[in-house]
Amino acid sequence: MTDKTEGGDVRLAGISKHYGTFTAVHPLDLTIPQGSFFALLGASGCGKTTTLRMIAGLEEPSTGTVGLGDRDVTHLPPYKRPVNTVFQSYALFPHMDIYENVAFGLRRRGITSVKKQVDEMLELVQLGQFARRKPHQLSGGQQQRVAVARALINHPQVLLLDEPLGALDLKLRRQMQLELKRIQTEVGITFVHVTHDQEEAMTMADTVAVMNAGRVEQLGAPAELYENPRTTFVANFLGTSNLIQASVESVGGAGGDVDVSASGAKLRLPVARCSTTPRAGGQLLVGVRPEKISVVPADEEHTIGAGRNKVTGRIVDSSFIGVSTQYVVDSAVCPELEVYVQNIERDGRLVPGAEVVLHWNPEHTFGLDAAQSMLAGTTAVAGAEQLVEESA
Ligand SMILES: Nc1ncnc2c1ncn2[C@@H]1O[C@H](COP(=O)(O)OP(=O)(O)O)[C@@H](O)[C@H]1O
Ligand SMILES: [Mg+2]
Repeated sequence: MTDKTEGGDVRLAGISKHYGTFTAVHPLDLTIPQGSFFALLGASGCGKTTTLRMIAGLEEPSTGTVGLGDRDVTHLPPYKRPVNTVFQSYALFPHMDIYENVAFGLRRRGITSVKKQVDEMLELVQLGQFARRKPHQLSGGQQQRVAVARALINHPQVLLLDEPLGALDLKLRRQMQLELKRIQTEVGITFVHVTHDQEEAMTMADTVAVMNAGRVEQLGAPAELYENPRTTFVANFLGTSNLIQASVESVGGAGGDVDVSASGAKLRLPVARCSTTPRAGGQLLVGVRPEKISVVPADEEHTIGAGRNKVTGRIVDSSFIGVSTQYVVDSAVCPELEVYVQNIERDGRLVPGAEVVLHWNPEHTFGLDAAQSMLAGTTAVAGAEQLVEESA
């Protein structure tokens, strides 16, 4: 009996990978729904490629099973799995033209009339006019599309992509993100995409799993992860978060809110936005994204509406980046609060040295368990881990 809706889900059950005493992937349970665009996101070394290789059959799990729909494929060799992989180094055959590169999978299976399928694939990746060129006569982005076509012609149930856009420059990468998303929508098969680039993961994927040190920290739709991070790692790794150490004063007061205080500032947030149960007298890390915050000169505090969260401070840095201005504000609650103000009308008084009041809607505030490191997932920590990794 096959359940059609679940027929092709990728099911990882308790899979882990040890190399000697080192655990690259801790036991992981993960279901990737058929037809979804799924991203594994995390810093270098967190276990993304290892996880992908276990799905592909290129790496044997130390524990656990890999399932595709109802089938346990844990012990199937890679070529017997309905799975294809696209790597960062496209690994095209340099001596074959584009047409033959794409036809390769069919020819290897002994299929001789390949024209219709190859033409369709070249059409799909919009490279029809380049069929007779060699790989070195194409741009990086075009070569990438050949690699995708060459994998898709085998009609895999699942396409695995390991940092496929890593070798492209930023502008081309953006273009290819949209292109891959279009291709995925058109062919409708499951894409599992590995990347360390949070913007890339959020642009493309329906569901993102954020990995940290061999574990999935949080999984969800991009907006859900961004708006409701449940750990400091996710709050910092996915975009930027301002985290404020606060004491809980009361819980469940006005409409189910939590009232906290931090260095004299009284702040409020909804209980529902806390990933931990706040208790009066306990600690809470209070988070707010930089773009949710408004900033006014201190002498205009009276213009701020009632019920807003307010923090006073002094601008220490300001960077104009076109669409917005990014301020760093020193305050008693946090030495470096980040504030992004959309570039509509610029207030000439908001310059370094200016005394300001920051304010935001309490609804835009989230609460995290205060027992975690506030720095998890920040670039400072990532850099340090990278050094440890490289010297290991
Ligand atoms: N064959 C191997 N032997 C020993 N350690 C490995 C091997 N492959 C990967 N690792 C280690 O496992 C961790 C995860 O690697 P990987 O999955 O490639 O990370 P990512 O793709 O997220 O950058 C890294 O610390 C890496 O050094
Ligand atoms: Mg990798």
